[in-house]
Amino acid sequence: MYVCMDPALKLCVLLLILLGLVNGSFAENDYGRCESVVKSWARSSLDEEMTKDDKHTLRDLLFFLHVPRTGGRTYFHCFLKKLYPSYLECPRSYDKLRFDPSKPKCRLLVTHDDYSITSKLPRERTSVVTILRDPVDRVFSTYEFSIEVAARFLVHPNLTSATKMALRLSSKTKGVSTLDIWPWKYLVPWMREDLFARREARYSRGLNIIESNDSYDMEDFAMPLQEYINDPVAVDVVHNGATFQVAGLTNNSYIAEAHEVRHCVQKYKTLGKYVLQVAKKRLDEMLYVGLTEEHRKSATMFANVVGAQVISQLNAPNTSLETTDKTERSSFTDNDPDSSEHQNSTLDRGESAVTSSEGGEATEFNMTVGELMDAYEVCISNLRKAQSRRRISSLKRISPVNFTKEARLQVPEEILHKIRSLNDLDLQLYEYAKAIFNKQHKTSLLITEESWDNISGSAYGLWRVVTLAITCVFFIFLFLLIVNVRRRTSKVKK
Ligand SMILES: *[C@@H]1O[C@H](CO)[C@@H](O)[C@H](O)[C@H]1NC(C)=O
Ligand SMILES: *[C@@H]1O[C@H](CO)[C@@H](O)[C@H](O)[C@H]1NC(C)=O
Ligand SMILES: *[C@@H]1O[C@H](CO)[C@@H](O)[C@H](O)[C@H]1NC(C)=O
Ligand SMILES: *[C@@H]1O[C@H](CO)[C@@H](O)[C@H](O)[C@H]1NC(C)=O
Ligand SMILES: *[C@@H]1O[C@H](CO)[C@@H](O)[C@H](O)[C@H]1NC(C)=O
Ligand SMILES: *[C@@H]1O[C@H](CO)[C@@H](O)[C@H](O)[C@H]1NC(C)=O
Ligand SMILES: *[C@@H]1O[C@H](CO)[C@@H](O)[C@H](O)[C@H]1NC(C)=O
Repeated sequence: MYVCMDPALKLCVLLLILLGLVNGSFAENDYGRCESVVKSWARSSLDEEMTKDDKHTLRDLLFFLHVPRTGGRTYFHCFLKKLYPSYLECPRSYDKLRFDPSKPKCRLLVTHDDYSITSKLPRERTSVVTILRDPVDRVFSTYEFSIEVAARFLVHPNLTSATKMALRLSSKTKGVSTLDIWPWKYLVPWMREDLFARREARYSRGLNIIESNDSYDMEDFAMPLQEYINDPVAVDVVHNGATFQVAGLTNNSYIAEAHEVRHCVQKYKTLGKYVLQVAKKRLDEMLYVGLTEEHRKSATMFANVVGAQVISQLNAPNTSLETTDKTERSSFTDNDPDSSEHQNSTLDRGESAVTSSEGGEATEFNMTVGELMDAYEVCISNLRKAQSRRRISSLKRISPVNFTKEARLQVPEEILHKIRSLNDLDLQLYEYAKAIFNKQHKTSLLITEESWDNISGSAYGLWRVVTLAITCVFFIFLFLLIVNVRRRTSKVKK
């Protein structure tokens, strides 16, 4: 009997071993395939841009690689729109036609497109700038903004009518709305559908609604943060978003192999180091890297490093600008990424009219950096006020949910930990960006001892000191003169 059992057992063991081998080698093959895909992409990316000339010099075309929720919108509105006349903006139709290179003479491109768009640009004549933000804050902000924009649709009785209205408005407005722009074109409809479903459930349930005191975990009103960050959509377009965007590997990339590379890196975390290497090198080569957290310093540096060069470039007598097509308007109007033009409210329309009038047309080629900084201060405070009004009125629709600084502090460490682990590449890239920023900052301090916004103030101060000193000297002189004269007269009397 055991003679008979033995071969069967042997066969069984053999089969099991074979199965294990096949399985193991399959996994190994997949890893091997991924590794070679990622490595070969990294090699060619590291090779491609070997520009010899100085990266500190502004080239003909400025590409602002705008990572969502880093505050790039204020730079666009309050700096770049004041510097570049709109006929120098590259036309872009975001995701409908994506970047349109039909206007080869354009000088400014600001989009949420990733780095791969540079394959469509004259690379050796393009300077790239970007702003990075603490990855955990960026995830929070993305979550809040997706819900904020989606909540505006709650004025409608149901999802069907909200979607219909959005479509109608989108076809009416010539510009581009948030809903057409990556990544909002995925995140907003996702949250919109979710908010309507939760509202309907609430209505049908009646009174049994739980209002917790944690705005990030109030499932009767909005998707809890924890659910959001673990969803495949967030994995596709939110996590490690800055690294993928700088590397040119987002879900919106122009290069075909990007998707395979991204999937491999998401599957095998150890391959992330190759992506990081490429992203770091690209940051190194940028004309300017700002930090959302260091807002004042970043803005001042932007004015000094980028603004000053734009001014002198556009002022150069020999500038190769095509002035003949001045009348041609860029297709891009005021509808930039983080604004939203789809909501039906006269209040919002009024606000966007205000921003567009303050945003553009102010261009004077002879503007100084000091004037630029002054204009920026005014512009940014208006922009912030408008944003905060919009946010409050939008979040009212899902009250008691209210995203405040205090509410963020209540979010459990466990969730923060999860966000960090989902954004490991972004955390490393952010640390790297901080180092670049500090280096840049030191360099720009050598150029200008004091920040530009103080220049007029300090010049005035200096003038006052000089006047005061002259007055003092004059009075001392007068005093001495009088004393002397008195002495002489008293001598004479004697
Ligand atoms: C949605 O709302 C519109 C407008 O009030 C209404 O005509 C339509 O019947 C509603 N649809 C559903 C499915 O409830
Ligand atoms: C929220 O409620 C919990 C207990 O339910 C309490 O410990 C916490 O302090 C409250 N937080 C706020 C901000 O009220
Ligand atoms: C990008 O991500 C969105 C959201 O998950 C998804 O619907 C879309 O198909 C993705 N696109 C590509 C090219 O992977
Ligand atoms: C400036 O313009 C002159 C005449 O149009 C031309 O000869 C010269 O090469 C130009 N210089 C530059 C730097 O473009
Ligand atoms: C905006 O909403 C109001 C009701 O709130 C409606 O009467 C009006 O027709 C809407 N306008 C547009 C352009 O959809
Ligand atoms: C510079 O701009 C001012 C307006 O700010 C204008 O009055 C002046 O004429 C301009 N000068 C030149 C040389 O363009
Ligand atoms: C949300 O909080 C802000 C202050 O952070 C406050 O101004 C606003 O009124 C609050 N909104 C609601 C609906 O409570």
